[in-house]
Amino acid sequence: MSASKKKELSYRLPEEFQVFGFSKDLLAWYDSQKRDLPWRINRDPYRVWVSEIMLQQTRVETVKPYYQNFMEKFPTVEALADAPEDEVLKAWEGLGYYSRVRNLQAAAREVKASYGGVVPDTPEEISKLKGIGPYTAGAILSIAYEKPEPAVDGNVMRVFSRLLLMDDDIAKPATRIKLEHLIRQVIPEGRAGDFNQALMELGALVCVPRTPQCLTCPVFDYCLARREGVQEELPVKGKAKAPRPVTYLVAVIRKGDQVLIHKRPEKGLLAGMWEFPMVETDEIKWAEDVLPDQIAQRYGVELLVEKPLAQIQHTFSHLQWTLHVYLCEATGQEDLASTVRYVRTDELEQFTFSVAHHKIIEALRLASS
Ligand code: ADE
Repeated sequence: MSASKKKELSYRLPEEFQVFGFSKDLLAWYDSQKRDLPWRINRDPYRVWVSEIMLQQTRVETVKPYYQNFMEKFPTVEALADAPEDEVLKAWEGLGYYSRVRNLQAAAREVKASYGGVVPDTPEEISKLKGIGPYTAGAILSIAYEKPEPAVDGNVMRVFSRLLLMDDDIAKPATRIKLEHLIRQVIPEGRAGDFNQALMELGALVCVPRTPQCLTCPVFDYCLARREGVQEELPVKGKAKAPRPVTYLVAVIRKGDQVLIHKRPEKGLLAGMWEFPMVETDEIKWAEDVLPDQIAQRYGVELLVEKPLAQIQHTFSHLQWTLHVYLCEATGQEDLASTVRYVRTDELEQFTFSVAHHKIIEALRLASS
């Protein structure tokens, strides 16, 4: 083992965390203050799993209705494993980060095939499933199975950076590993799941990013950042790269009461989702020439550009889309590509579109009403 690794693993919590019962104080607060959330009604490992995947990068209030609907549609590992992919994607529509649900279904199929439908309860097995990283593995193992595993996400890193006055960059994987090691030392026996959820709850309700509510904090006495008055300056987080801007021309191609839609490839961004045909461009000046040309080449449809319909911005973690959307008319000659089809506008809701393309559907509705 390298010297730096040894140093990291020998890092210990301040004495008072053990002596005065940090975990006890935190749990007492959690027991009286925890929110009633739909994934907390029992500890079914599948329910916990789905909730943890949905809650990645998504706020609790946004997740709630999606979670209820998803659990009604796919109440068990088997139900999810056996469901048609399109239906599963539809149930996730609007939540974003769609690879999460594709991985979730692939993993459910693996759990059905290899573990008889029972979510595995060891770090080794559960971590092999698609979409389950160290945080999610720790959350499922502790909440569903009471295994003494840490579950360290961004919120928990913020809480501990402040408690320990730690200026390690939380964007670095080494910081998460260090914190996992530290947190293991204070996970109380028999209450690992509640302890991890209490830390999440503290991060969500009290130790919030910009204006931490120190006066109501149940672990105020332990917090080294608060003693120094620097809680608002922590955690330290290295800047993520700015999303790369990309501009597209988008064609909403009408033929009578139908419009043309395109299914994205099965791999990559927004895999398998539907959209209006798009052409990347760095010059929108010539849209009315470029669009018919490119659309004919790629999708086998001849068209005339009628008029601009909307301009839409959408930001992904790594990309910034600007969509210049044009209303177009199909003009006759067609040799449709296998990934496109015409549907009536009242059928659009049967297909799964990204948020950006939903905005286009909305603009189309407004323009036709
Ligand atoms: N964020 C991630 N997991 C959570 C959970 N189980 N409860 C509340 N917020 C969470």
